Amino acid sequence: MNFDLTEEQLMIQEAARDFAEAEIAPSTIQRDINAEFPKDIVKKLGELGFLGMMVPPEYGGAGLDTISYVLAMIEISKVDASVGVIMSVNNSLVCYGLEEYGTDYIKEKYLVPLAKGEKLGAFALSEPEAGSDATKQKTTADKDGDYYILNGIKNWTTNGTTADYYIVIATTDKSLGHKGISTFIVEKGTPGFEHGKKEDKLGIRSSDTCSLTFEGCRVPKENLVWSEGKGFNFAMNTLNGGRIGIAAQAIGIAEASLNAAIKYSKERKAFGATISNFQAIQFKLADMAVKVDAAKLLTFKAAALKDSKKKYYNEAAMAKLYSSKIAVECALEAIQIHGGYGYVREYLVERYLRDAKITEIYEGTSEIQKMVISRGLMDEHNK
Ligand code: CAA
Repeated sequence: MNFDLTEEQLMIQEAARDFAEAEIAPSTIQRDINAEFPKDIVKKLGELGFLGMMVPPEYGGAGLDTISYVLAMIEISKVDASVGVIMSVNNSLVCYGLEEYGTDYIKEKYLVPLAKGEKLGAFALSEPEAGSDATKQKTTADKDGDYYILNGIKNWTTNGTTADYYIVIATTDKSLGHKGISTFIVEKGTPGFEHGKKEDKLGIRSSDTCSLTFEGCRVPKENLVWSEGKGFNFAMNTLNGGRIGIAAQAIGIAEASLNAAIKYSKERKAFGATISNFQAIQFKLADMAVKVDAAKLLTFKAAALKDSKKKYYNEAAMAKLYSSKIAVECALEAIQIHGGYGYVREYLVERYLRDAKITEIYEGTSEIQKMVISRGLMDEHNK
């Protein structure tokens, strides 16, 4: 077992850190207050190759491994988890799925601009009545000659108002249950497709999230991804990789919380010394550091398994479950260490808590991760 990062991985980590500090950090607070989408930042991320990190160069991507992606996601999310989720959705849920299951036509037309960051993608699975139970898709796609006609509502779509291309999961044959679900790419501006208003969220406020409606929306049959009936498998397989991205996002928040707590405890004086001298604070910092490291180990393990083309869905669920839990815990502890200052915007840690909470909810709640993990355990046991 080798824990050393390669030269290339270290370079990517440094490039992401430098970019985050120079280009993202200065506007983070203001964008959080105004719930403002980081348009220019996303454009630059694309130019630097951070939006199609794992896509092979022949399709416009950076051709990097999942470990590099995790490292970059951590660095970006340390500074701004909103930018982290925008990046994660494009890389993991959109580009990965199209690369793995798209036809040559789809790859040329959609994957290349998405991987180059010229276009932005969104992933629309959740519905008002199909969240955790994703098999209960009510959005329909009915074949009509050379088109499918989409009708239905999606919600909680990240990049919902800003994306150019949307991956949309819909039912093509209700009688077949989850085996009658299919995947489509829908372009922004297609008649019959509208997005709703931006949600006013607790955290990750500068990412945009909204509902989508489809009313008689005609999508060319070439935009069917994989094949009819494979949409649920498409969603599950892409979400496995997505969970590694969200685990990395959560680690970024947890590490930022730890760093802020260390910095503050070395500056803040109380009872005649900096508070870093007190065991009450030292124990908290030590606990946070162990959690951050454990979350990294789980996440790198899942990423390494994915890179070596081995089964990784259980490990991805474990990484996401644990990293999201400790992100909330570390943000709370950072606030506690900051005392009253932790409760105000200027000291950043209050945002870490607001941003951390969503990592326990999206791309499968913690309860869903536990379902995935325990089913995996049962499968192993039955062998
Ligand atoms: N990986 C690969 N395949 C999986 C899988 C996994 N983790 N979990 C289930 N499957 C496959 C099964 O193998 C089975 O395939 P076949 O029919 O081909 O054999 C099929 O899916 C159905 O499996 P189950 O009977 O186990 O399905 P279920 O309905 O009992 O449970 C679930 C599935 C795990 C609960 C699933 O519905 C799930 O993950 N739900 C959460 C959905 C989710 O994460 N939503 C997030 C929305 S996207 C988002 O948040 C993006 C964003 O914008 C940030």
